[in-house]
Amino acid sequence: MAVDIIILAAGQGTRMGSALPKVLHLLAGRPLLGHVLTTARTLPDAKLIVVTGAGGETVRKRLANAHIHWVEQTEQLGTGHAVLQALPAVSTDSVVLILYGDVPLIAAATLKALVAQVNAKTMALLTVELSDPTGYGRIVRDAGNAVVGIVEQKDATLEQLAITEVNTGVLALGSDCLRRCLPAIGNDNNQREYYLTDIIALARQQGYSVETLQPMAAEEVQGVNTRAQLAALERFYQHRLAAQLMDAGVSLADPDRFDCRGQLSAGRDVQIDVNCVFEGQVTLGDNVRIGPNAVIRDADIGNGVVIKAHCVIEGPVRIEDGAEVGPFARLRQGTHLGEGAKVGNFVETKQAHVGPGSKINHLSYVGDAELGAGVNIGAGTITCNYDGVNKHKTVIGDGAFIGSNTSLVAPVVVGGGATVGAGSTITHDVSEGSLAVARGKQRTVDNWSRPRRKDGE
Ligand code: UD1
Ligand code: CA
Repeated sequence: MAVDIIILAAGQGTRMGSALPKVLHLLAGRPLLGHVLTTARTLPDAKLIVVTGAGGETVRKRLANAHIHWVEQTEQLGTGHAVLQALPAVSTDSVVLILYGDVPLIAAATLKALVAQVNAKTMALLTVELSDPTGYGRIVRDAGNAVVGIVEQKDATLEQLAITEVNTGVLALGSDCLRRCLPAIGNDNNQREYYLTDIIALARQQGYSVETLQPMAAEEVQGVNTRAQLAALERFYQHRLAAQLMDAGVSLADPDRFDCRGQLSAGRDVQIDVNCVFEGQVTLGDNVRIGPNAVIRDADIGNGVVIKAHCVIEGPVRIEDGAEVGPFARLRQGTHLGEGAKVGNFVETKQAHVGPGSKINHLSYVGDAELGAGVNIGAGTITCNYDGVNKHKTVIGDGAFIGSNTSLVAPVVVGGGATVGAGSTITHDVSEGSLAVARGKQRTVDNWSRPRRKDGE
């Protein structure tokens, strides 16, 4: 059956103390609402309806997608009022599922189980038991344990406040039931809000029954209202990822200091030291070792690669088996390191193909360059790839040796096996097997006395 998923995201998020709409704050590098959308999309035959309010324009732009039906709630008059704005977009004969843009970790399995409970006579409600239920709507049951309604904290009697089963807000019901009951919701309560939760009692009066279900983990239904709550959920998320990686054969020096803000897949016997950050799509082969404080984005890293401390990789980057990087190296987009290549400290590479076994061990910039196999780049070598307007290429053949502190003024080709003397500024191609030295000749003056001041001091 078709599922219409209404995601409420109109709240101000005042307690975030932010100019950014709350649902655009990032969890694991992705907007809160983005997590909900991704999970919602896993339900077959789902239509996504998102209700926005304050900052709606910004939200739409950030998460622009042709398959989202956006609805505006200009005034935030309550969750019931928010769903009412979405009602015209709801199909007939569908199951309607209500989610929240600031409850990012709801699991697909929970949603599927909830939707499966719904039929012509039954709605389904996700609840949790909390030792401290303060602030939540309480689930009110009758003597036969059937749910009869939800009462909000601010409207509850002392007896009701003692109830520890609370409303998560997530519910599923038939579109007919929604159409019949929603317009009947009023705002005669302590907050003068249209409470979606009143739909439970109304549906009961119409003869519907209410099934309840609990999520696998309490964090699934945790909302984000403050930055502290966001940080706590982020850590929960990272811990869960860390546990999955360790189960799959990855060693993490400290799962409390592991951050993946994208997709990380890893082979066996990978070792990851503390404070590493993975972004975008990162693939690690078997036996990869990553030192502390690495930041790695969009990289495909082969077997046995060693990334030493403090490296920054800003892909797309490909590193072949057995290569070594760092410490303190920065590999930028379009870097391809061949098998067994070495890039050492304070080296920056960009659009650079470095052939197998080649070495750039210290203090260099290699950009828009193609290096063959077994090339040795001396310390302080710079490819001068930019003339202020255009970028030009440097090509270095197999086995060439570039002396320290060389400037290679591109476009330039250094042939295979050629040698460039240290301190050279190379502006012309160097032919295969030759030696090029392009620097001022040394002059030595014997017994040189340094100039003295005129006043003799
Ligand atoms: C709501 C539930 C409460 C439940 C709690 C779980 C109601 C009346 N109460 O309370 O039973 O225990 O969630 O967290 O539903 N929103 C809109 N438009 C509005 C009002 C709210 O889009 O006019 C959105 C908010 O952005 C937020 C969500 O709905 O994401 C919940 O609203 P909020 O006011 O925080 O509800 P609670 O008072 O926490
Ligand atoms: Ca409220």
